[in-house]
Amino acid sequence: MQKDKYILITGGAGFIGSHTYVELLNSGYTPVIADDLRNSNRLVLKNLEKITGKTILIAEIDVTDFDKLEKVFEKYNFHGIIHFAAYKAVGESVKEPLKYYENNIGSLVQTLKLAIKFEVESFVFSSSCTVYGAPDDKNEVTEEEVQLLANSPYGQTKIIGELILRDFQKANPNFKMVALRYFNPIGAHPSGLIGEFPIGTPNNLLPYITQTAIGKLNELTVFGDDYNTEDGTCIRDYIHVCDLAKAHVKALEFGEKCENGCLEFINVGTGKGNSVLEIIKQFELLTKLKLNYKIGPRREGDVPAIYANTDKVSGLLNWRTEYTLSDAIEHAWNWEKNLQHEN
Ligand code: UD1
Repeated sequence: MQKDKYILITGGAGFIGSHTYVELLNSGYTPVIADDLRNSNRLVLKNLEKITGKTILIAEIDVTDFDKLEKVFEKYNFHGIIHFAAYKAVGESVKEPLKYYENNIGSLVQTLKLAIKFEVESFVFSSSCTVYGAPDDKNEVTEEEVQLLANSPYGQTKIIGELILRDFQKANPNFKMVALRYFNPIGAHPSGLIGEFPIGTPNNLLPYITQTAIGKLNELTVFGDDYNTEDGTCIRDYIHVCDLAKAHVKALEFGEKCENGCLEFINVGTGKGNSVLEIIKQFELLTKLKLNYKIGPRREGDVPAIYANTDKVSGLLNWRTEYTLSDAIEHAWNWEKNLQHEN
């Protein structure tokens, strides 16, 4: 019988982590979640079991707790690590920067310390397009264009995280490390059983739209329509969360092939930008609903327009999107409707 290929996924009960859990199982890995569920919901665990038909392996621990995390490493002979565990609310990070530095940097450092101790040399880091700050007029960013100053403490933790990986890999050249720079993940699993689970009022656009449409929120505010873009609203690269999840599997597979160690930073986006108003119109078209929205002032720290150059992710990881923007919006909406029956 083949030996289990255990993969540790810190923060595996979160939005991207839970979808990656499914894709890992689909690809023959055995994922083990380390997550204290502070930013997620038990329903995710129950539904992951429904989707996969397998009992979930989870350690309900704070990933910054070295001793508890060490016990998880002792229990499983990990083949690789995908490190998601981090806070991600940009606005909150401005108000409580230390909370972000402590958690996001702390969890990365503890995980890497244990990766050395237990010789788990394959590591995927959850980074973000926030490392690009505000791009120039071109708006399409390649991996070389990293800024050393992000727009928020949250963004800084991703830049610092990447710097830590650079230093770490120099000192431990056998490690195979990939930092995936996510653009804007949206959507939900096509089954409608897992999706984004914002605690409190959502910050991100898609959950705000679906919660407004279902009546949980009164009205969506579009943050500014006076940007230098075609319709005046900001442009982002929205990517289906299942496509993004699959990029993690590809990153692990890539790592397995670079025998002498490597460190790569790779954009994961569709390569296409859409404005806020385009997303709203697409939502209205697909659902045949009228969304209650108004135009408001700009949100501080928002970048006018950014989307991914995808040459590296398609060339190096042999990864392509499988879902369209419409799929992503439909799946997010199905998920929102299903959640209604849960409450
Ligand atoms: C930001 C970060 C991203 C991070 C994510 C985590 C940047 C460039 N991006 O994404 O790296 O992973 O937060 O949360 O720093 N919008 C509205 N009304 C709303 C909500 C959003 O108009 O109620 C607009 C925003 O102005 C923006 C777009 O929708 O133009 C997307 O916003 P959001 O979903 O919050 O993601 P980002 O800010 O792009």
